[in-house]
Formats: sequence, C-alpha cells, structure tokens
Amino acid sequence: MAMASSLRFSRLLSRSLSSASSSFFSPGGSAILGARVSKYSTDAAIEEPIKPSVQVEHTQLLINGKFVDAASGKTFPTLDPRTGEVIAHVAEGHSEDIDRAVAAARKAFDQGPWPKMTAYERQRILLRAADLIEKHNDEIAALETWDNGKPYEQSAQIEIPMLVRLVRYYAGWADKIHGLTVPADGPYHVQTLHEPIGVAGQIIPWNFPLVMFAWKVGPALACGNTIVLKTAEQTPLSALYVARLFHEAGLPPGVLNIVSGFGPTAGAALASHMDVDKLAFTGSTETGKVVLQLATKSNLKPVTLELGGKSPFIVCEDADVDQAVELAHFALFFNQGQCCCAGSRTFVHESIHEEFVAKAKARALKRVVGDPFKSGIEQGPQIDSDQFEKILKYIRSGVESGATLETGGDRLGNKGFYVQPTVFSNVQDGMLIAKEEIFGPVQSIFKFKDLGEVIQRANNTQYGLAAGVFTKNLDTANTLTRALRVGTVWVNCFDTFDAAIPFGGYKMSGQGREKGEYSLKNYLQVKAVVTPLKNPAWL
Ligand code: NAI
Ligand code: MG
Repeated sequence: MAMASSLRFSRLLSRSLSSASSSFFSPGGSAILGARVSKYSTDAAIEEPIKPSVQVEHTQLLINGKFVDAASGKTFPTLDPRTGEVIAHVAEGHSEDIDRAVAAARKAFDQGPWPKMTAYERQRILLRAADLIEKHNDEIAALETWDNGKPYEQSAQIEIPMLVRLVRYYAGWADKIHGLTVPADGPYHVQTLHEPIGVAGQIIPWNFPLVMFAWKVGPALACGNTIVLKTAEQTPLSALYVARLFHEAGLPPGVLNIVSGFGPTAGAALASHMDVDKLAFTGSTETGKVVLQLATKSNLKPVTLELGGKSPFIVCEDADVDQAVELAHFALFFNQGQCCCAGSRTFVHESIHEEFVAKAKARALKRVVGDPFKSGIEQGPQIDSDQFEKILKYIRSGVESGATLETGGDRLGNKGFYVQPTVFSNVQDGMLIAKEEIFGPVQSIFKFKDLGEVIQRANNTQYGLAAGVFTKNLDTANTLTRALRVGTVWVNCFDTFDAAIPFGGYKMSGQGREKGEYSLKNYLQVKAVVTPLKNPAWL
C-alpha cells in the first residue's frame, strides 16, 4: 500500500518534473532543456510579473466557523515574492484572538458534536472536503504560488494533489481507530479506549503551506480533536481558503480555527495556552526549542516537532553519474532549496568526483529560473527578503572560507527574491555552509574515499532528518541505510513523500513522527478501563 502510493507520488513528481524540464526521470530531458534555455538569464526573472488568475477571497481570521477581524483591528501585509509587493492585508492575530479561537475549539470539543459524532460521519466530512479541494485545485494552486513563489506547475500537480491525498488518507483512518482487550493477571475485564486528546495547537511554516497544513490537520481531525492552527506570516492565504472548504463540507463551527499572525505573538500565545492540550510545530530548530519550553512551562502539553536538517546525499562509486547528478540536483534545488530535508551535503566518491562536479555545475546552469506562473519554470523566488539575505550571506561565507564557487553566487534580476542556482565544490566539513541550514538553492559538494569515512562524516551533525543514498550495490545500500542516524533514507530516489510514509527527525531534527499511522499517536490518548469479573469461576 505504502509502496503503491509512493510510486504514484513518484510518477506525479516525474510528470511535474518533466513538465518543468527536469531530466531525472527521463534521461533525455536535459538535452531538451539545453536546447530551450542554455543558461539562466536575468530576463526571465525581471520581466513584468504574470497576473495570477485568482482573487484573494479570505484575509480575516477563521474563528468558530466565521471569518472575523482581529480583536485589535490590526492587519499585516502578505507579499508577492516575485516583486516584494503587497498581495493583501491580512488580519493579524494576537493573544486575545488565540484566546477566542481556543475557546471556540474547547467548546467544539467539550460540548460540540465533533468528538461525539460517529467515526463514519467524521470520515464522510473529511472525504467531502477532499473532493472540494480537488475541485478547486487550480485556484488553490494559484493562490499558493502567488503567496509563496513556488512554480505553479508544482503547486497544481504536486502540492494540492498531495493535500487531497493526505485528507483522504486520514479520512480512511477515522473509523479504524480502536483500543484493545488486555489479558490482565486477575479476575478483571480490561480494555483500552483510544480517545482524542482535545484541543490541538498547530504552528506551521511557509515552505509547503498546504502540505504542512494537511500533516497537522488530517490526523488531528480523524482522531476527533479540535484545532487552532497558526499559519506562517509569509503565507497566510491558502489555509484560509482550504479551511473554508472544510466548513462547506460540513465541519462544525469551532472544530478548525485558523489564526494568521506572527510567531512571538500569536504563535507563542498558542504554545503557552493553558487550554491547549497538544502542540505540533514545524519550523526551525531554534524556534522548536522555544515552543517546547513554552509548552512545558505552561501546562506540560505533549509536543511534536519537525525541525531543521542538513541531510547528506551520498553518491557511491558505482553510481551512474548522469542520474546521480540529476537526483542530487533535485534533492537540493526542489522548492527553491527551501526543504527541511534538502540534500544539502552532496558527498561524492573520489573516483567520480571530478566528472560529477562538472556535470552538477552544467545542470545548475541549465536550471530554468523565472516567474513561477510561467510554464516550464523550475525555480521561482525565495520566500522573502530575510531568507534571501540569509542565503546570500551563506554564499559569501562559503567563498570566504575557501570553497570553490562553481557557478551562481548572486541574486538574479533586480527585483523580488530570486537567487542564482549556486554550486560549491571543495567544501570542507568544518565550514559554516557545511554545518548550517542554508534553505536556498545552494549545493555543496564534498569528496569522500570510503564507506566508513562517509558514514562518520554524514552522521557528524546535530541534525538527523533524512539522507539520500545513490548506489546499485545492495550491500552498500544496506550498510548505509542502517548506519545513517536519520528519520528517512531514500535509496536511489529522494523526496518520495506519501501520506502513508512516516516522517520525522532523529537528534535535533525533531521529536515524534508525522504522516502514516504513526501520526495518529500524536492525537490520541489511551484510557485503561478495568472492571472486576463477578463470576470468574464460570469464565
Ligand atoms: P520559524 O521556525 O521561526 O517559523 C516557523 C513557524 O513558527 C512560523 O509559523 C512562525 O510564525 C512560528 N514562530 C516563530 N517564532 C515563534 C515563537 N516564538 N513562538 C511560536 N511560534 C513561533 O522559521 P522562519 O523564521 O520562517 O525561518 C528561519 C529558518 O528556519 C529558515 O531559514 C530555515 O532554516 C528554517 N525553517 C525550517 C523549516 C522546516 O520545514 N523544517 C520551515 C521553515 C523554516
Ligand atoms: Mg507571501
């Protein structure tokens, strides 16, 4: 089942990538690409931005099934990363809005119909929501691309279909959650009830706004919890649209509340709220530590954390170099390099290192960067000026510390947040670019001699989110998959995400697992029910 779905996702990805002229799944692709665009050009990025074919409908907070202004009346602008210009002003939630949203979620849990509904009824609402999202795929994709800057073809063909798949997957779980009968040592009937935890607080980032929304909302709703979700301040629009569709599908008021706003205000208020029973967070390791402390200091609510990474992508000596180059390129550059699991340390065996570096550089030069609404675009702008500046700072640090800048290294165009696809070779483990999360289109290539050495170096990081292994040798693959201290190892593939496959980090990349059956545990608590057996002699 997991395999079939992941294959489906790979095919989806492959379709999308080939439409974006990537060649990993079709080896002829880069030749086609080469004929069309031989080098990224500033023209592509600075032309007049294409007008999105969607209107912004919702900018208020969604509390108790209604769109409302923030209590303070405040708003903040959400920006178009292509230009830095304002798309819309969005209601800015603060602690009083979090209080209102939590009160609505509390009521919907304690008195409302959601946890009391039959599991089958909950399932039907979630399935209807998935159908509605699917029906509005293209509008939602346009909104996402406008707010986030990711290529429209990827929003429409990967992200929204993944959201639909996740909602359907968790709808499927709704009526398959049950406890056990336990054989205790004594005359007792013992059973466990698997009950929803209550009000879930959820804080999500901007890099995959709707997939992160689904990882959080899907399991929480399937298990019968109610929710207050805070979107990232950079990308507030799409979750408001999609949450409205959940209500159209029959979700009762107060079950799913969306508060737009900033981390230190709305986010912190949610993490430290006494009436929130569980917290789930995705974002930086630094902020993860903050929310964990807030959760602990307030009411000891359990916390799930999906944090940063510095994932190795290991290319072994037996690899087909062209394929390895393409996959390593995808592993790093996908989503403008803004992936927690990006393959940001490309380790290449010394015997193929020189050829690999030359081809990785050539591939980066062919990357099609430009207006994400244009067909065939592989890379849009970075999310905002903070990330843009941070990436350029890391590039300068790479150069200063002596890595070889093979290509790129600067902004692209003169407006918006476009960054040239950048490749460094000769990167040493101690450099800042080798240790810290860059979160941008910057590939770092390292040379290695043998397996023992690369295992030690790959694991020599505070992070442990994911790893890629590229080899035809089964023994090598088996050794690496077991030795790498990470939550996901992709062998001869990368970023193969499916709703059924668990995801999460070892070490400082997180706590707990999301997606798959594992995620249900985050939103359930177990009650043991013990009843004496009155006539044990007859049983
Ligand atoms: P962040 O971790 O600060 O933000 C993620 C979410 O946390 C947002 O919704 C934000 O509003 C919220 N938040 C921020 N401070 C908070 C606080 N004190 N209390 C509660 N919530 C808070 O990440 P940011 O600033 O957007 O990006 C910084 C770096 O984090 C990136 O350069 C990247 O390295 C990493 N990052 C990792 C992501 C991942 O998927 N693991 C996603 C986004 C960023
Ligand atoms: Mg935006």
